[in-house]
Amino acid sequence: MKTKNYCRTILYLWFLLYFCFNPLSSVSADTISANQTLSGNQTIVSSGGNFALGFFTRGNSSNYYIGIWYNRIRIQTVVWVANREAPISDINSAQLRILNGNLVLLNDSQTPIWSTDLNSTDSSNSVIAVLLDSGNLVLRDGSRSNSNLSQPLWESFNNPGDTWLPGGKISYNKRTQRNQLLTSWRNSEDPAPGLFSLELDPNERQYLIRWNRSERYWTSGAWNGQIFSLVPEMRLNYIYNFSYVDNENESYFTYSLYNPSVVSRFIMDVTGQIKMLSWYDNINDWNLFWSQPRQQCEVYAYCGAFGSCNENSLPFCSCLRGFRPRSESDWSLGDFSGGCVNEIDLECENNGSSSSNQRSDRFLMNPYVRLRIPDHSQSIAVGSSGACESACLSNCSCRAYSYDSNGCSIWNDELLNVQQLNEGDNSGRTIYIRLAASSSVFSSSKNNKGVVIGATVGTIAVVVAIILAAVIWRRRNQKGATSRKMEGTLVAFGYKDLQNATKNFSDKLGGGGFGSVFKGTLPDSTVIAVKKLESINQGEKQFRTEVSTIGTIQHMNLVRLRGFCSDGNKKLLVYDYMENGSLDSHIFKDSSKGLEWKTRYQIALGIARGLVYLHEKCRDCIIHCDIKPENILLDSEYCPKVADFGLAKLVGRDFSRVLTTMRGTRGYLAPEWISGVAITAKADVYSYGMVLFELISGRRNSEQSEDGKVKFFPSWAASVTIDGGDVLGLLDPALDREADVDEVLKICKVACWCIQDDENIRPSMGQVVQILEGVMDVNLPSIPRSLQVFVESQEDIIFFTDSSSSGQSSSQTKSNTSNASSHHSKNNTSLTN
Ligand SMILES: *[C@@H]1O[C@H](CO)[C@@H](O)[C@H](O)[C@H]1NC(C)=O
Ligand SMILES: *[C@@H]1O[C@H](CO)[C@@H](O)[C@H](O)[C@H]1NC(C)=O
Ligand SMILES: *[C@@H]1O[C@H](CO)[C@@H](O)[C@H](O)[C@H]1NC(C)=O
Ligand SMILES: *[C@@H]1O[C@H](CO)[C@@H](O)[C@H](O)[C@H]1NC(C)=O
Ligand SMILES: *[C@@H]1O[C@H](CO)[C@@H](O)[C@H](O)[C@H]1NC(C)=O
Ligand SMILES: *[C@@H]1O[C@H](CO)[C@@H](O)[C@H](O)[C@H]1NC(C)=O
Ligand SMILES: *[C@@H]1O[C@H](CO)[C@@H](O)[C@H](O)[C@H]1NC(C)=O
Ligand SMILES: *[C@@H]1O[C@H](CO)[C@@H](O)[C@H](O)[C@H]1NC(C)=O
Ligand SMILES: *[C@@H]1O[C@H](CO)[C@@H](O)[C@H](O)[C@H]1NC(C)=O
Ligand SMILES: *[C@@H]1O[C@H](CO)[C@@H](O)[C@H](O)[C@H]1NC(C)=O
Ligand SMILES: *[C@@H]1O[C@H](CO)[C@@H](O)[C@H](O)[C@H]1NC(C)=O
Repeated sequence: MKTKNYCRTILYLWFLLYFCFNPLSSVSADTISANQTLSGNQTIVSSGGNFALGFFTRGNSSNYYIGIWYNRIRIQTVVWVANREAPISDINSAQLRILNGNLVLLNDSQTPIWSTDLNSTDSSNSVIAVLLDSGNLVLRDGSRSNSNLSQPLWESFNNPGDTWLPGGKISYNKRTQRNQLLTSWRNSEDPAPGLFSLELDPNERQYLIRWNRSERYWTSGAWNGQIFSLVPEMRLNYIYNFSYVDNENESYFTYSLYNPSVVSRFIMDVTGQIKMLSWYDNINDWNLFWSQPRQQCEVYAYCGAFGSCNENSLPFCSCLRGFRPRSESDWSLGDFSGGCVNEIDLECENNGSSSSNQRSDRFLMNPYVRLRIPDHSQSIAVGSSGACESACLSNCSCRAYSYDSNGCSIWNDELLNVQQLNEGDNSGRTIYIRLAASSSVFSSSKNNKGVVIGATVGTIAVVVAIILAAVIWRRRNQKGATSRKMEGTLVAFGYKDLQNATKNFSDKLGGGGFGSVFKGTLPDSTVIAVKKLESINQGEKQFRTEVSTIGTIQHMNLVRLRGFCSDGNKKLLVYDYMENGSLDSHIFKDSSKGLEWKTRYQIALGIARGLVYLHEKCRDCIIHCDIKPENILLDSEYCPKVADFGLAKLVGRDFSRVLTTMRGTRGYLAPEWISGVAITAKADVYSYGMVLFELISGRRNSEQSEDGKVKFFPSWAASVTIDGGDVLGLLDPALDREADVDEVLKICKVACWCIQDDENIRPSMGQVVQILEGVMDVNLPSIPRSLQVFVESQEDIIFFTDSSSSGQSSSQTKSNTSNASSHHSKNNTSLTN
């Protein structure tokens, strides 16, 4: 009996597995040949299983498209669409098939609505369509035995949509003199060609982005064989291998991935930015690696006519006061290009009231705005603001004017590219916008105003809510908890309070990646440090959640958050003030003796303890991402406190931000930052190691050139340590070799372990603390490979990493030294005995 049941269960399981993995719906192959059709939920899958082709839909529309997407990625990510502009509604009666030598999509009534449009040839009958593992769909002559070697008749890589995959190209065809474009989707649900497109400019060997196929708003700068001149951060790119090809038929760029196991794509996004994204298994999401133009408001006409773009708010677009979105539904799908229309029609547009009733339109002042150059205004030669206003008022086409040191400018018909700057930002100008006098923005009655503002705020709130919901939903997948109550320990300050405390932000202590820090004194004479955050792209609720999370993190080696201020776009954080400032001001001092060795050792230990707390003791592991001497503060007793933790999350950590702010921090970045694999706490360990070297030498690692000869300190220190050389000779000359030689050796060894290329070989911060406390011994490290080969560029030193060193999947976060040692086998390569 038992055996029988057992067998039945096995049989049942087998059936279950069979049906799960062999859905009958799938045309279980990578090919559509002459007699096959694809319809309904059938798909074909490339031979290696990377990509699938079939019908898909977006949102809850009933529009279906033939597309190619990543087969192994849970979030359906479409990389190519056949019928971009011609959706079909019934996938069961529509068919994708080979017809007269073409791949053709027939709609419900069997009418062709999309085709590869090739002229028929003799071999038309034997044409097949094959989905390759690169994501390329090719049409071939299937009758020839070596068909996969011959040139395809047609390929999707030559007809891209918004995605440029590795191996694909964006080209200029010299024979037809036509550009092949990478074109954004119209909005997040509609794959029809949108307004933004990337194209090759073969004369200048550069890429450019255009709006509506005309206005160009970004260029990459010329290719010099290695980088595009206006994209210097590409030098730090170790993911994409770009190359330029120029022959008698065409010019194009193509790229491959140094590490083929990385899943990566390049898109012309609906935001008007080009983006490079990599897929991370451990967070189950796409991570933005790089994007251009960097600022959303640099995208031409992103918010449409009479829209206003603001880098410090989300969504970036809103309507100018007195206007409403032309299409609420487009705006909610992330397509702002329709812009805004007057809430109340202009009086001058109403017939009959033309000349007699000129005063029925008025102008609303809009201060602190910036307009793209050229701003398409007309200059009027008049001598006063009043005359400028009258000139504009007299012609109904005139929608706005400005009168400043440049004289009188007017704008006809529509106003594009208005960027709203922060209040008080004097780099902007003031423009006056024409509105009907009856517009509620002029009404002094509070009630009316309330309604209008309420309505505007209401629509904005809806959009924010949608985006927030998406963000929270994503976060929830990672974190479990959504929102926590504000903890009672944090004080919510008013902006005025902090303005007073800091004497209107007059005493600047420093600036950083996230904003400037000012010294202040509270009425009870507590001295505080106030950080003014820049560009917080976050909703109020999420900001408070993140801040209260940071507020719960308390440790003697972490700077304590005391309170915050959230007043519209103004987001500030209030910290304890640290008397002795940041570590860099002590160790990189030339004149004085600097810090004693004992103090330096205690500082090394304190930073490590602070990081252990962040990595292991908090509810969510916090990766600092920016450990450097500037972010280590010292209190009156020289006790080190790590600053700026948790902010990466607050500001919405993404790689592009890191790439663009890297200039000053580069020397501390672990190789995995630039190789595109996921970041773990071991990235902090690497940066910590770099800081240890600077504590030893009293010099910046990247400034170790003396008498013209480059000597990269970590390389030198590593070889001295490993060869058993004179470690006291490595010390800051200011110390006069006054130090405990065992401690110096220990710190040198730890530092070398911390900067190993392979994150698995680096110790955890917990192990570092144990070693520095003397609880654990430490072996001799090996010299990290990246230190063996380095180059000096104009600005500073960057590393060459061998792509294979970062190839391992990053699923493991806890250190695993025994396993790790097997990578670099040989001898002495484990941290401890
Ligand atoms: C298609 O089907 C017809 C009739 O069933 C058959 O004669 C023909 O050989 C098939 N063609 C291919 C390429 O399989
Ligand atoms: C495919 O579609 C059929 C009917 O259209 C449905 O019954 C079946 O469950 C679908 N299969 C999958 C795997 O979705
Ligand atoms: C789906 O359709 C419903 C009703 O038409 C609409 O209210 C809802 O917003 C739509 N959802 C999305 C995500 O478009
Ligand atoms: C199929 O496409 C043709 C041509 O575009 C169109 O006239 C016809 O209405 C479509 N049929 C259906 C059912 O949508
Ligand atoms: C197809 O043939 C027509 C007429 O012979 C010709 O004008 C056209 O250029 C050809 N198209 C292609 C893509 O070769
Ligand atoms: C061509 O395709 C055939 C069958 O799909 C395969 O056996 C052969 O190895 C392929 N040749 C090359 C060079 O890829
Ligand atoms: C784009 O340009 C076309 C003409 O080239 C024009 O008709 C259309 O209105 C433009 N689109 C927008 C959104 O301005
Ligand atoms: C980069 O791409 C070029 C052209 O495809 C190739 O020749 C070169 O070997 C690649 N470099 C690396 C390191 O993969
Ligand atoms: C250019 O096109 C011609 C005709 O199609 C072809 O014979 C030649 O090989 C092509 N040249 C290159 C470099 O691809
Ligand atoms: C003004 O009058 C013209 C013709 O008399 C008419 O076509 C137009 O729609 C009118 N406009 C408005 C805003 O009433
Ligand atoms: C108003 O301005 C437009 C655009 O400059 C111009 O074409 C038109 O002639 C002007 N109308 C009058 C009445 O001046």
